[in-house]
Amino acid sequence: MVLSDEIYSRLVFDGEHHSIMSVPDFQERTILLDGFSKTYAMTGWRLGYGVMRPDLANHVARLMTNSNSCTASFTQIAGLEALRGDQASVDQMRAEFRRRRDAFVAGLNRIKGFSCRMPKGAFYAFPNVTQTGWKSKKLSEALLEQAGVACLSGSSFGEFGEGYLRFSVANSLENLNQALRQIDDWTKKHV
Ligand SMILES: Cc1ncc(COP(=O)(O)O)c(C=O)c1O
Repeated sequence: MVLSDEIYSRLVFDGEHHSIMSVPDFQERTILLDGFSKTYAMTGWRLGYGVMRPDLANHVARLMTNSNSCTASFTQIAGLEALRGDQASVDQMRAEFRRRRDAFVAGLNRIKGFSCRMPKGAFYAFPNVTQTGWKSKKLSEALLEQAGVACLSGSSFGEFGEGYLRFSVANSLENLNQALRQIDDWTKKHV
């Protein structure tokens, strides 16, 4: 079985999203997971869904009913509205995230010790920071406490994330530019 989390499928900048579920013979073998947090900015609404074979869906429905007693009905109605309503906002936000990504990645690449590739989707930047001489966790803590910028250490995602940081660009361009200035000022003193 393949458990496929495709929550960023509508936030692809370069190329197209392809679900593994569309590969011959994989429809039966895939449990596709998706939700409303990214495409419709409904983070915190705790609304998501899975697509799977009916025999598996029966078990998952029983599990969900008995573990969280279902999602609140008004949240489900909001989800329906999101799916059935005008989708223009999804395209507008994708274009906006692309603008933010372009500006933020370019800004990171101007900071001493930072090197960032252009992500092809989602709303994160994942710069390599090995040239700063700092370990990821220590660097993320110092940036939070001394530069006032929150990010995640790449090592939070597993040992191969060491040497990287993860920044979210789900914020205004103005705030992102301010974050870049604060990181740059900090690195000038500490790197
Ligand atoms: C890859 C991925 N899947 C799923 C989620 C979960 O979204 P939520 O629990 O808000 O529906 C996230 C959120 O950060 C994510 O990055």
